[in-house]
Amino acid sequence: MTLIIDLAPDNFNDVINASAEIIKNGGTVVFPTETVYGLGADALSSEACAKIFRAKERPIDNPLIVHVSNFEMVKQVAEISDDLLKKMKNIWPGPLTLLLKKKDIVPDIVTSNMDTVCVRFPDNKIALALIEKAGPIAAPSANIATKPSIVDSADAIREFDGRVDAIINAGRVKYGVESTILDVTVHPFELLRPGAFTLEDIEELLGEVHVGSVAGGYSESSIALTPGMKYRHYAPSKKLILIENNQKFREFIQSDLSADFVALCSMENAQYAKYDSLILGNDIYEVAHNLFYYFRMLDSSNKKFGVIQSFSEKGIGFGVMNRIRKASYLILKDKENIDKINNVLNEYR
Ligand code: TXA
Ligand code: MG
Repeated sequence: MTLIIDLAPDNFNDVINASAEIIKNGGTVVFPTETVYGLGADALSSEACAKIFRAKERPIDNPLIVHVSNFEMVKQVAEISDDLLKKMKNIWPGPLTLLLKKKDIVPDIVTSNMDTVCVRFPDNKIALALIEKAGPIAAPSANIATKPSIVDSADAIREFDGRVDAIINAGRVKYGVESTILDVTVHPFELLRPGAFTLEDIEELLGEVHVGSVAGGYSESSIALTPGMKYRHYAPSKKLILIENNQKFREFIQSDLSADFVALCSMENAQYAKYDSLILGNDIYEVAHNLFYYFRMLDSSNKKFGVIQSFSEKGIGFGVMNRIRKASYLILKDKENIDKINNVLNEYR
């Protein structure tokens, strides 16, 4: 039995009290953050955290983020220098997660037996009040493993009713892509996942960052099949094709070749669509806000495939393009002929 806890204008405290009680009793609660919904449990209880892995069907070797609501709680779960803590006072609460050395109080199941822990101080009223009342909360994104993250409570209820103890029904979240993850145990700091907190802002506030390979994850070959379905993340169930060249994207969506496709694109590009389109938005924050929501709409549409354009990688666009690439089954670059898409997809028609 899953309790659906509706948020109304006058019941904030009741929502927090009921949800905190469930967490303190070792239960699981789906709750909003400013990025995506989280599937939370008491971060200091192995048994409670085991329920997260079961509800999400998450492999046990994929560690959880620990959510905190004040600076004392950061020090309760992780080692952090005074200098860094001081700098984080300009950033937290906010969607930048730090990878730190963990303290013994954090059970091994949370960190998959590693000696590091991801710590996140979310900028969402409900999340903060819940953590303040219940203590540190371990929470991955609230979605069945490999599916797109959830940005709307209606989707959370569809996916988790019957799998968790409670779901806070609080509508749409602010950003729509997950937090940025920064490893601060190495120097220079290393970006592990681009996300809602921009790289530009990190570099301004914390100094130089090593970016490594997070943006890629796909092959440079002429027609890039995402390496093995095993590594698709954040993906709709329907096959998604990314056409990186905007001219080619427009050519494709105005051709008969796109009859089986929903086009996910800007308003400007949607004018070229001969068949169905979903307008992701006009600026990159709107695109972020709608991306995972529309992945789920694509899955419930009557079309077989999705095709998506690329966006600028500045600011939050870096995180957006990282999610699009990871979700894509096929990635077409500048030089390819769009006819290839149909050759590759014919076996799925
Ligand atoms: O915005 C967010 O960060 C959301 C909301 C709910 O807070 N949470 C989220 O959690 O996206 P999750 O579990 O879906 O993604 C966290 C990522 C995973 O890829 C996990 O492998 C990685 O962080 N991670 C967690 N702990 C780690 C650790 N100790 N070392 C390396 N990677 C870690
Ligand atoms: Mg996730």
